[in-house]
Amino acid sequence: MLRGSRELWLAFVFAIVITGIYGFVLFLTRKVPPAGELFGHSLGILGFILMLMTETLYSLRKRTRSARWGKMSSWLQFHIFTGLVGPYMVLLHTSWKFNGLAGVTTLFTVVIVVSGFIGRYIYTRIPRTLDGLEIEGTLSEAALRQARRLMALWHTVHIPIGMALFISAFVHIGAALYYATFLR
Ligand code: HEM
Ligand code: HEM
Repeated sequence: MLRGSRELWLAFVFAIVITGIYGFVLFLTRKVPPAGELFGHSLGILGFILMLMTETLYSLRKRTRSARWGKMSSWLQFHIFTGLVGPYMVLLHTSWKFNGLAGVTTLFTVVIVVSGFIGRYIYTRIPRTLDGLEIEGTLSEAALRQARRLMALWHTVHIPIGMALFISAFVHIGAALYYATFLR
């Protein structure tokens, strides 16, 4: 079971620290950090690495139930933490311009985070063990069936959005590196 909201608080604290550093750079340079210069670029790369970890690690752990490395609930907490901090860094990377494919990629990123919150809400309705397995709990049979159906429906939306996001992100990264970094 995912207990409390520690991962949300931790992500919030990290976001405040990152905002502080961003504000400091803004203050020093007196301009919005451009996406293609050192600071903005680093934010994009680090944020994207966190997002890649979000996309892969939890799914890998989920599919190897025999593995002993860490409780599923901790992996899901880590998923949510990186799934919030990564997109936030990427948002600061954009330099608040959302043209073309990079803008579409940002939109996918926002949608997957919002969808994540909805999924988290449904997920926590279903009583589970620390390893994520469903158990008998306080929900009535009908409510449980409904929550399960919602969770399945949610997966069919969340997973394709994630894939679309990474496809457009890779194209953006390829194009940005080619045109804005190597040809400069
Ligand atoms: C999901 C992750 C990412 C998103 C949503 C994203 C989004 C954006 C956006 C919205 C812009 C501004 C486009 C404009 O000027 O209108 C931008 C610029 C840029 N991005 Fe990303 N980005 C991501 C990851 C990355 C990564 C990992 C890299 C590098 C490896 C990167 C490299 C760049 C560069 C170099 C620019 C500047 C392009 C220029 O100066 O014309 N981005 N990005
Ligand atoms: C970069 C952002 C994110 C990406 C790429 C992403 C991707 C994914 C993927 C691929 C899965 C399917 C895992 C599986 O069943 O194999 C998943 C599940 C899930 N994600 Fe995310 N996610 C992101 C952000 C978030 C956020 C911000 C939250 C919560 C606020 C969240 C909550 C969940 C929950 C509750 C599940 C379901 C866990 C389960 O059914 O076992 N995600 N996510």
